[in-house]
Amino acid sequence: MRSSAEAPCKAIITGEHFVVHGAWALAAALGKKVRVDVEPSDRFRIHSDAHLASRSALAPAARVVETMAREFSFRPNLRVDISSEVPDGAGLGSSASTMVAIVSALSRLKSLGLGRREVIDFAMVGEREIHGHPSGIDVNICTLGGVILFKIGTKPKQVSLSRPARLLVVHSGRKRKTRTLIDRVSATRSDYPALFGGLAQSASDISRLAAERLAAGDSKGLGRLLTYNHAVLSFIGASNDRLNGLVDLLLSLGCAGAKLTGAGGGGSVIAVTAEGKEKSTISELKRRGFEAFEASIPVGGARSWLRR
Ligand code: PMV
Repeated sequence: MRSSAEAPCKAIITGEHFVVHGAWALAAALGKKVRVDVEPSDRFRIHSDAHLASRSALAPAARVVETMAREFSFRPNLRVDISSEVPDGAGLGSSASTMVAIVSALSRLKSLGLGRREVIDFAMVGEREIHGHPSGIDVNICTLGGVILFKIGTKPKQVSLSRPARLLVVHSGRKRKTRTLIDRVSATRSDYPALFGGLAQSASDISRLAAERLAAGDSKGLGRLLTYNHAVLSFIGASNDRLNGLVDLLLSLGCAGAKLTGAGGGGSVIAVTAEGKEKSTISELKRRGFEAFEASIPVGGARSWLRR
């Protein structure tokens, strides 16, 4: 008997970093996925396909399996295979999708019947090991799917869209470590506590407004909020010349708005493209050497199944 699970990757639409400090953030699951296959074996083995992410997540992923084995009293004699369509260090939540897919596959194989909250809690064991003090937004969106408004300590709110929407995702070509960026932003908070508090409040407002604009299908309104959020993220140290240059390029190509997504410092930028200009924008980005793809939202969350 074998089990398999898939979890989507994600983009944080607004509110990253401030979400770690209690603000609301908006996130969407994207169609690229991490897949995990688990089967009984003579000993514990974990393997991930070459190009990714999941490589840097291997030891934390093993910790998740050990934790579940201890909690549910089974021997972790398992072979775990991870394969991914999600680039590593791109701010698209590859580690969170990996953890969520592992927990889901293991729950299915061992008939643990874990609900979504429990999947999220076990996936956080691995995420904490990688990122230090993550907010949990990544594992929530990779588990639940769709589009969510998230705040630490509250139940995530699903945002229903009046019609499907699209986000352009552009990889800056630079990898970075989420943990380093979280620490840098936390230092800005210590230096300017009152100012940071005001910006965190503003990030919450941006996220609520962005959810409304996205739900209503107002891409111009959403775009404006994205660009504004990027300026705030630059101020707190999450951006750099490369990301600012990419945002300027996207705006000059006619996008309604653009911003870094996730921890920043590299990784990816998201944008709302002008109606009818999606293909030409992607061609121009590719001509300039950037990897870019268009993501349709909403997409479903993690799922698992058994194979005999
Ligand atoms: O996983 P990344 O690199 O896309 O970024 C996580 C988002 C942060 O807000 C920076 C951290 C967090 O845990 O919320």
